[in-house]
Amino acid sequence: MFRLPLDTIVNTDDLERSARRYLPKMLYDWIAGGAGDELGLRENREVFQRFRFLPRYLREVGACSMSKRVLGRDFGGPLGIAPMGYAGLFRPGAELFFAHTAKRYDVPCIMSGVSVASMEAAAEIAGANLWYQLYTTADDAINADMIRRAEACGCGALVITVDIPVAAKRERDIRNGIDIPPKLSARTVLDGLLHPAWTLRYLRTGGLPVMENWAPYLPKGASGLDVAKFSIEHGYALQTWDHLRRFRQLWPGALVVKGIMHPDDARFAREVGVDAIIVSNHGGRQFDRAASAIDCLPAIRAAVGADFPMMFDGGVRRGSDTLALLCLGVDYVFSGRPFLYGAAGFGQGGVDRAMEIFNEELSGLMRQIGCLGLDNPDLETFMVDSLKRYPRGE
Ligand SMILES: Cc1cc2nc3c(=O)[nH]c(=O)nc-3n(C[C@H](O)[C@H](O)[C@H](O)COP(=O)(O)O)c2cc1C
Repeated sequence: MFRLPLDTIVNTDDLERSARRYLPKMLYDWIAGGAGDELGLRENREVFQRFRFLPRYLREVGACSMSKRVLGRDFGGPLGIAPMGYAGLFRPGAELFFAHTAKRYDVPCIMSGVSVASMEAAAEIAGANLWYQLYTTADDAINADMIRRAEACGCGALVITVDIPVAAKRERDIRNGIDIPPKLSARTVLDGLLHPAWTLRYLRTGGLPVMENWAPYLPKGASGLDVAKFSIEHGYALQTWDHLRRFRQLWPGALVVKGIMHPDDARFAREVGVDAIIVSNHGGRQFDRAASAIDCLPAIRAAVGADFPMMFDGGVRRGSDTLALLCLGVDYVFSGRPFLYGAAGFGQGGVDRAMEIFNEELSGLMRQIGCLGLDNPDLETFMVDSLKRYPRGE
């Protein structure tokens, strides 16, 4: 199917539409889908509808700055790229496109623990703007070696994802036969034939790609399928607070825990010596009746204190979503799917376009409402929650 030209992409939904045309249905569903009834997935978007902004006028809005300080660094913007596994399957090189965009816009990009490209290749491009997300394996020596490699190649932070104690029930994937190895049926073959651009590229590049971060732990020449099976057999191991303590000892840099929802977990994380948390329900992909991550923010902030970095991801599609989160006291924001849609549909240009859209929307909104910077303590005064009463003058 013909994809939309890049210059017709106006918002992040357009990137999704374009990726949907390019990818076989089973792969589009893999990105777009959520667990169970997909209630959590839908709520992640809907929850942003309630926020409204109160403009301040007659200010010098030419001086607006989007820079955002977190973990001791000033970044070029407040929104980074969330980790997404197997990105290079949707478009070869996707993780390296993320790295280029992160470098160009000076924001962090978190490389998934099940990415195709290696952390060394991505860090060569993005330097410390690359953060590495570790999926704990059952083999402590592999965990330790991956952490050593992340340090050696200069990753700016180590991210531990904690919200996958079990595999999710994603019904689209089950119906589509997503598995290792993929279940081939007449329907999946037809799906491939109807999306020849992706299928030809997949066949030309040798089929299921090798996950380069895992390959060193297998015999030389292992196929993409061998590596995937190995990562499943050894990976996604049960983790406990003891593991986190061990990772804290092994990793000298900024340690970030992703997937925290409960205020007590947030407090424990801080006590263990974690430097920041990402409040996240994994984009609605793990379990359907997960609490809305936004609703968890006030209790978490109360538990960890004002100075502890609290980051967020899930359902962020607009510059206004980013600003709403910052007004709620979030220190840094991540978005996932728009970047993967951009990579799938357009390669590097699509990932850059996703970041440009977020930045243009945010900078336009900041100037409209007279918000001059994102590190200002008065940020919260720009926002009203439409479900609550509007503030009144004294
Ligand atoms: C296709 C896909 C793969 C993902 N893989 C990972 C992963 O490997 N590690 C991880 O911590 N989170 C993973 N996530 C979750 C994202 O990091 C992030 O939490 C979520 O996508 C945010 O929601 P959003 O896509 O609505 O912005 C994945 C998400 C998607 C869509």
